[in-house]
Amino acid sequence: MVKNKIKIAPSILSADFGKLNQEIKEIEDSADLIHVDVMDGHFVKNITIGPPIVKSIKAKKPLDVHLMIEEPDKYVEAFAKAGAYNLTFHGEVVPKEKRKDLIKKIRELGCKASISINPDKELSLIKDVLDDVDMVLLMTVFPGFGGQKFIEDVVPRIKELRKLKPSLDIEVDGGIDAETIKIAAKAGANVFVAGNAIFTQKDRKNAIDELRRNAENS
Ligand code: DX5
Ligand code: ZN
Repeated sequence: MVKNKIKIAPSILSADFGKLNQEIKEIEDSADLIHVDVMDGHFVKNITIGPPIVKSIKAKKPLDVHLMIEEPDKYVEAFAKAGAYNLTFHGEVVPKEKRKDLIKKIRELGCKASISINPDKELSLIKDVLDDVDMVLLMTVFPGFGGQKFIEDVVPRIKELRKLKPSLDIEVDGGIDAETIKIAAKAGANVFVAGNAIFTQKDRKNAIDELRRNAENS
């Protein structure tokens, strides 16, 4: 099997927003991407941040922006201009006939384009764009909040996707810690979002190193 590069993406949702850039500074040398959760209070029952805060982020590492919002096509330009490297939209909110145009638009804005689905969705929902996207994000919790429990039912879906797309970046998000990362990596995921497992730790660099080691050895 192709061994895809392991990437760790700390989620700033679990950071202290009052000193966000300081928090990012602490983890960015060890991280591959900085995961930014955008929530609109409609697609998910929580509201987080918008383009001005994304713009205020000073990070050496690329911003992996996860749009948990309805009508993402209306906002991708603002997030691209705010400095996003990757924009992930949800398959649940963009009908099939509009996805390719949205992916094209995101690319024209200079970003990578990725798609995500919730833990209760089958891969068939996004099969139409698997050859078009840069990454697929399989949610391993229902989006909205950090600190939830990893949903193991998603594991067969990770395996199925890896079998279909040997070299695609497969990201998992939700409940990833030093133990669950092994399960997800073994199934074929290679990009790992982790909020609580990193930001609740005193030694965050060490927490990231441990996650990486456990994924690489799985
Ligand atoms: C959940 C967000 C996640 C969240 C993960 O809706 O999309 O990115 O920050 O947090 P943990 O790693 O704490 O489950
Ligand atoms: Zn996320």
